[in-house]
Amino acid sequence: MIFEDKQITLKDGRTAVLKSPCVEDAEKLLNYIKKASSETDFLLRYPEEWNITVEQEEAWVNRIRSSPDTLGITCYINSEVAGNCEISFKSGMKTSHRANIGIAILKDYWNLGIGSAMFEELVAAAQNRGTEIMELDFVEGNDRARHLYEKFGFRVVCKKPNAFKLRDGTYLSEFHMQKYLIRRL
Ligand SMILES: CC(C)(COP(=O)(O)OP(=O)(O)OC[C@H]1O[C@@H](n2cnc3c(N)ncnc32)[C@H](O)[C@@H]1OP(=O)(O)O)[C@@H](O)C(=O)NCCC(=O)NCCS
Repeated sequence: MIFEDKQITLKDGRTAVLKSPCVEDAEKLLNYIKKASSETDFLLRYPEEWNITVEQEEAWVNRIRSSPDTLGITCYINSEVAGNCEISFKSGMKTSHRANIGIAILKDYWNLGIGSAMFEELVAAAQNRGTEIMELDFVEGNDRARHLYEKFGFRVVCKKPNAFKLRDGTYLSEFHMQKYLIRRL
């Protein structure tokens, strides 16, 4: 799916553009996700696990752009990638009422309102699609993410104890959240 470019103003007055990831930015997108993965333990992978080629990243961008079931939104600041998010609409007959969200913003750009701007677009896209339940997961201790998600009406529905095991042996639980776009079932 393609997201129509949208200019936003950040909390510090700078402007940014939300747009679909561009295939010519595949290398930038790969560098961005490696950097984001090095800046927090709250993402699924360590940076070295992103051992894919630029060509593979290009294929991922093309898949996102052409898929009828996935909307990717990248935040560009001065043509550099500051963050990215995705909503994946499930397509199975028994699950197509649900959609799953992922988001990561580079540390330099945390707390500037990018996550909130992205969530407004993701919720609108889910509403337009007729999605009933939006879902996401966050890891224990990710208070900024939890605050953002609760601000947009997501609520914790279950906990997966010890879902993450960090390099130093620390176990972290994962929380599953849902947001109902229809009257709660
Ligand atoms: C979590 C994340 C997506 C949030 O995006 P963001 O652009 O920083 O979010 P925003 O600036 O729109 O909003 C952040 C909110 O959290 C609040 N906040 C900041 N630090 C906080 C903390 N330690 N505890 C609680 N709330 C906090 C801010 O005050 C702001 O609240 P407000 O909108 O009510 O003023 C981003 O920080 C990120 O990508 N982090 C690293 C990767 C990650 O954790 N991804 C999510 C995996 S589930």
